[in-house]
Amino acid sequence: MVSHDDIAQAAAILRAGGLVAFPTETVYGLGADARNPEAIHRLFIAKGRPADHPVIVHLAHADAMPQWASRVPAAAVTLAAAFWPGPLTLVLPRAAHVLDLITGEQETVAIRVPSHLVAHDLLEAFGDGIVAPSANRFGRLSPTRANHVRAELGDAVDLILDGGPTDVGVESTIVDLSGDRPALLRPGGITPAQLAAVLGASLDAPHAASPRASGTLPSHYAPRTPLDLIKPDDLEERANQITAKGSRVTVLARRKAPLVLSGIAWHIVSADAATYARVLYATLRALDAVGYDRILVEDVPDDDAWLAVRDRLRRAAYRGEE
Ligand code: TXA
Ligand code: MG
Repeated sequence: MVSHDDIAQAAAILRAGGLVAFPTETVYGLGADARNPEAIHRLFIAKGRPADHPVIVHLAHADAMPQWASRVPAAAVTLAAAFWPGPLTLVLPRAAHVLDLITGEQETVAIRVPSHLVAHDLLEAFGDGIVAPSANRFGRLSPTRANHVRAELGDAVDLILDGGPTDVGVESTIVDLSGDRPALLRPGGITPAQLAAVLGASLDAPHAASPRASGTLPSHYAPRTPLDLIKPDDLEERANQITAKGSRVTVLARRKAPLVLSGIAWHIVSADAATYARVLYATLRALDAVGYDRILVEDVPDDDAWLAVRDRLRRAAYRGEE
């Protein structure tokens, strides 16, 4: 799907200050040269992202960490050895040269070594750090397929490398290692239990002194259609109530539609957390495109395996005080 020539062309575009969208194992990223402020400025404009929101520096190998971090704590070495390349981002004290545009003028920098072969080959060919936020407009659903990027960013991207659908489907887990104790800033592809097993201690929740992470805003990762999270037992009743008022509703559930329901588009999603995560954004995008008045999502289990999915659904459902 992606040839050596495509990778070489993508690296050349990045060197020239251009923007390249590429697949990672989590979601598609919109890449720019991490040492080129003009390119990163263009990237923020393409995304419609506020300038004070920091971006992740992607690297081909963990051994480049000290080029971007002023200090690499022992926990970073441990987590990198266990989970890189993979869906984990580490927040570390920044090296002095790291651009304020990357850090959001904070004292930390976020670093990740992705495992997707296309991402890896691009990083190798480029030979240095690539900043890559998810390749969507700010606040919207992250793209998990190349056509999502095309639909959302169009001509603002110089090249899109199409590596097919992404595997994990939700963004990387972000762990802050810049403070006294590791803190989980964003749940993702790696679960807290996996992290705790390797670190030998559980992680803190984000606290007042934690670095800001935009993916932790209450409303984020949202479809355009209003979305409600509904307890499994209340699903049919709510769907019927809304339909009775003349609204077009669709349901996303892990089980079949009851026979008594008529005229409601009922979509079944996997009861396995990893499979659910893989298709979540593509499913919400497809439902968004139909133009329903409301998406009702059956709430998901309250355990560790579902943490990232639950987090994204909560943010997708958040509409402030109504
Ligand atoms: O899976 C991923 O992480 C994807 C792929 C493309 O790698 N990238 C991604 O980037 O999700 P983005 O920009 O959409 O989200 C990055 C998150 C944001 O919540 C941002 O606030 C946080 O990382 N972040 C970046 N630098 C940070 C820093 N220095 N301190 C705290 N949070 C940081
Ligand atoms: Mg994003």
